[in-house]
Amino acid sequence: MRKKIVAGNWKMNNTINEGLLLVDEILKGLSENQESDVLKIIAPSFIHLNSISNKISGIKNLELAAQDCHQAELGAYTGEVSAKMLVSTGCKYVIIGHSERRQYFLESNELLAKKVDTAMANGLIPIFCIGENLSQRNINQHFDVIKEQLQKSLFHLSANDFSKLIVAYEPVWAIGTGNTASSEQVQEIHSFIRLEVEKKYGVEISSRFSILYGGSCNAQNAKELFACADVDGGLIGGASLKAVDFIKIINSFL
Ligand code: 13P
Repeated sequence: MRKKIVAGNWKMNNTINEGLLLVDEILKGLSENQESDVLKIIAPSFIHLNSISNKISGIKNLELAAQDCHQAELGAYTGEVSAKMLVSTGCKYVIIGHSERRQYFLESNELLAKKVDTAMANGLIPIFCIGENLSQRNINQHFDVIKEQLQKSLFHLSANDFSKLIVAYEPVWAIGTGNTASSEQVQEIHSFIRLEVEKKYGVEISSRFSILYGGSCNAQNAKELFACADVDGGLIGGASLKAVDFIKIINSFL
């Protein structure tokens, strides 16, 4: 059985107090709803990890993710945060390869492979983001781009390690634009990803790992997107900053 997952990527939003307030609202919303087997993940910025971890520790199906980690174990990397430091906050997951990191911080497929290795060596589960930009889609390169991202950053992993991670398909043209990919487009790519994984690791692993969709996924369109055969949930940006919307998205599975 594949896990159903809704993860909220807060990006560079929320002060300490705003973050704690949002988590309180999310907890209240979850307690008012029927308990579900959906895994909920909150991915705030580094400054929030420790305090939110203290608040949510022990709550079933609610976990914490960081938005990035450094590829080195430790050392003289001013401003960076290591995987081990993340684990020490109680964080279990880490987003790696978000398109904003690829675009603004020039993170390559090769660098991201190193980040994945370091995260996994420290026991963190990567939520690995892949996806094409608009010009690549316009010239019909999206399948090649996604295949290359998988091959260069993930396909060096052992089958055992690959089976632990989560992949998120986030077409860059859909992120923060309101241009959500259609459920047909999303299903087409997700089944392509599953097929590539099947070719590499076999059907048992390809049918078991979770693939999330991200890109203007919101309380209105989540139900339709999550109903696609190969969509196991969402990686939510803007709509995860409002507790009511985030809860509605989680409940889209019900
Ligand atoms: P939006 O939901 O704001 O489009 O962001 C998606 C995203 O980048 C999640 O990682």
